[in-house]
Amino acid sequence: MIKKIAIFGSTGSIGTQSLEVLRTFPDKFEVVALSALQNAELLEKQATNCRSQLGPLDKKTINSLIAPADYVINAVPGFEGLLVSLQTVKAGKVLLAANKESLAIAGRHLCMIAKKTGAQIRPLDSEASAIWQLIFDHGRENVASATLTCSGGPFFGKKSEDLKFVTAKDALAHPTWQMGPKVSIDSATLINKILEAYEVSNLFDIPITKIQIVIHRQSVVHSMIHTYSGATKMHITQCDMRLPISYALNYPEQPSCPWQIKRTRKSELSFDTPDAETFRPIKWFAMHKGNPIFPIALNALNDIAVSRFLSGKIGFLDIYDFIENGLQKWLYTQPPNTLEEIISLHHRIQHSRLEGVRSSDYQNREANATGGSNLL
Ligand SMILES: NC(=O)c1ccc[n+]([C@@H]2O[C@H](COP(=O)([O-])OP(=O)(O)OC[C@H]3O[C@@H](n4cnc5c(N)ncnc54)[C@H](OP(=O)(O)O)[C@@H]3O)[C@@H](O)[C@H]2O)c1
Repeated sequence: MIKKIAIFGSTGSIGTQSLEVLRTFPDKFEVVALSALQNAELLEKQATNCRSQLGPLDKKTINSLIAPADYVINAVPGFEGLLVSLQTVKAGKVLLAANKESLAIAGRHLCMIAKKTGAQIRPLDSEASAIWQLIFDHGRENVASATLTCSGGPFFGKKSEDLKFVTAKDALAHPTWQMGPKVSIDSATLINKILEAYEVSNLFDIPITKIQIVIHRQSVVHSMIHTYSGATKMHITQCDMRLPISYALNYPEQPSCPWQIKRTRKSELSFDTPDAETFRPIKWFAMHKGNPIFPIALNALNDIAVSRFLSGKIGFLDIYDFIENGLQKWLYTQPPNTLEEIISLHHRIQHSRLEGVRSSDYQNREANATGGSNLL
């Protein structure tokens, strides 16, 4: 039977690649609804034969696009994607989640709701998809721990001193993946990898303390599992988001791949420890991974910091300073138990930090006038 598909964020990197994959399986899938934030021109071109929605999303709009669909692709970046994930699992549909933020901060709650409603959650993120595929092949009960690989991003090998004056344009130039701005900056700071660690932990019930991150410059091993019997199993493919998108759409079938696949013939596969002094999120992860507030506070603070960096208001290292200051304030407050409490904590953190930013902007202007520091 043809599966009906809704795509939230259809005009972005994942959205357009999803449409490309869907077009290669016309007998299996039909696109019934699309959404975008502001790219009216592309959305109109994409939505020749289905309903579409331009602008910010609310519950009513999301539900109206989900209603005719069997599968929902969530390719909206940031916290805004949580409402799409939530409404999809509440409706008992199949969620194909590219939005890692919702799975990182609320994945366990989304999985619990999915269990009740009969919904399924399938990851599109390449690392989470790699773990999913390895678990499918080798069995969850055999997995003792997991390793996520990280290309190192555009600033691999640099030290803090070198990162003082890098711009958003430098940070957006990812060596291996063409992605939207938010996830590109997260890849440059390595916060992306921390979010993925929580995404994988929540989706596959692997304790966060059993997930480690390694630098793998060749970007062909997308993740690994380590079995109780002492083996390490790796998932190796070329860097191409169409592969995990196609896997999630066709699961559990595995049709032969319609694209030309460049077989990996790397003579060397290297795995190195990330530089936690320069890329501070690795240090925060090591220190705070067991604290349930950490992923929520990190994500909330990071959303603000990335948008300020992209608009040129702060420098690259200020992203780290901004988050570090916020973490100090929030990490030792009351941990949230419910999804509502997670959402409320996110808003409280953002609200308080935005207030802080406004006053610090003022202080910065004052400091600049007297030749002082421009740090937050
Ligand atoms: N790109 C990748 O290779 C990749 C890989 C793994 C995971 N992911 C994850 O997938 C998600 C999407 O990433 P992306 O790279 O595809 O992002 P992107 O290229 O920036 O595209 C974002 C899409 O969402 C829409 N959108 C943005 N903000 C929105 C909002 N507040 N409300 C409703 N729609 C909104 C955009 O519409 P407009 O075009 O109209 O602005 C666009 O269609 C992220 O969570 C990311 O971490 C991406």
